[in-house]
Amino acid sequence: TGGVTTLDAGYKNTGSCESEITFLDGEKGILRYRGYSIEELAEKADFLEVSYLLIFGELPTAEQLDKFHSDIKKNSVVDDDIRKIVDSFPKFAHPMGVLSSLTSALTAFNPSSVNVDSEADMYNAIVKILGKFPVLVAWTMRKKQGLPLDYGDNSLDYGENILKMMFKQPNQDYHQNKIILNALNKLLILHADHEQNCSTSTVRIVGSSHAGLFASLSAGISALWGPLHGGANQAVLEMLEAIKQDGGDTKKYMAKAKDKTDPFRLMGFGHRVYKNFDPRAKIIKKAADEVLGDLGVKDPILEIAKGLEQEALNDPYFVERKLYPNVDFYSGIIYRAMGIPTDMFTVMFALGRLPGWIAQWREMRLRKEPIGRPRQLYIGKTERSFVFIDKR
Ligand code: SDX
Repeated sequence: TGGVTTLDAGYKNTGSCESEITFLDGEKGILRYRGYSIEELAEKADFLEVSYLLIFGELPTAEQLDKFHSDIKKNSVVDDDIRKIVDSFPKFAHPMGVLSSLTSALTAFNPSSVNVDSEADMYNAIVKILGKFPVLVAWTMRKKQGLPLDYGDNSLDYGENILKMMFKQPNQDYHQNKIILNALNKLLILHADHEQNCSTSTVRIVGSSHAGLFASLSAGISALWGPLHGGANQAVLEMLEAIKQDGGDTKKYMAKAKDKTDPFRLMGFGHRVYKNFDPRAKIIKKAADEVLGDLGVKDPILEIAKGLEQEALNDPYFVERKLYPNVDFYSGIIYRAMGIPTDMFTVMFALGRLPGWIAQWREMRLRKEPIGRPRQLYIGKTERSFVFIDKR
């Protein structure tokens, strides 16, 4: 049911878990981080504040936030040898594969991040990854674009620094675009955590063996990559582009999505838990209108998306199955307007989800949960004797 269930002692940690971090009501379309509604946080908070809230359980005071940011800045240098790993990838490598590899490689350069039993050691590993991950995200994008791998500017705030690392062009002054900065902040907050989804469960189960934080996050990034999960935001744009190339014929794609002989699914629709509107999709849809309007971007893809949404919301197949737009349906339209390449969309999802993964990993370790060991219902062959090959 996705709800909190009392764990059967015999099968502790078999897939359901207890958590204080995120509350999600799939029927009512409610999402709260540590009790605060996503609607309020997306409007009023800053991503680093929300990261602190998710990880430590309370909104930070100004002093706590300053110290947190200062500790993160102190850890924002990535070992120069990691550039050699970036250089070794082909330009056509998918950014999620690059990011997962680089995140795992961080362990080699930060061995102290592995055996973290004390809260202090966990904190040190956490500020390390929050400092280095945005650099890896920027390097992953710039590698594809043939741009120099750059560092940002620690005098900037967290979001400003991310954008500067991603977008600063050589030999050109860089000017922050407030519209893009606000859009990034909102999108990162909306992606920051989502209870026990596929990638978060991956981070928790890998971390439950006491593998290091960076190795657990690398596994989570790989899980997020799948098109049924975070990879859907890229797949949505590819689907909308295909519809546009097809002259905007949404009916053909609706028919494909309902055809059981066709593996095609309407990307950005449906959800394991939400059987109502994904509250994040509502906020992102409104933000897409605002951001494109403020940027003066006319993107026919947005109108195609809205048309597809209306068709699906009025189609019995989708209504019966309670298939609504999810977080991935409109997010790519904003990323695209921000100048982010399509195959980097899921990397942006990972950047947002990072504090949620960290918070869930930390909660699991502080609660000293046992190693994850899901059980099964065996439905295979009953016992039988070996037959030598000449008798088979
Ligand atoms: C994310 O878990 C999380 O919280 C994830 C996430 C997060 O923040 O971490 O919210 C992020 O991953 C969002 C989901 C992004 N994925 C997509 O948009 C991919 C397209 N969606 C589907 O693949 C699907 O809806 C899932 C994977 C999201 C959910 O799958 P379910 O709940 O297992 O749905 P299902 O496979 O049981 O489908 C139920 C019925 C089936 O038809 P019937 O067998 O009953 O006839 O609905 C159909 C499905 O064929 N269906 C779809 C559909 N999704 C489900 N039909 C067409 N298009 C779709 N998108």
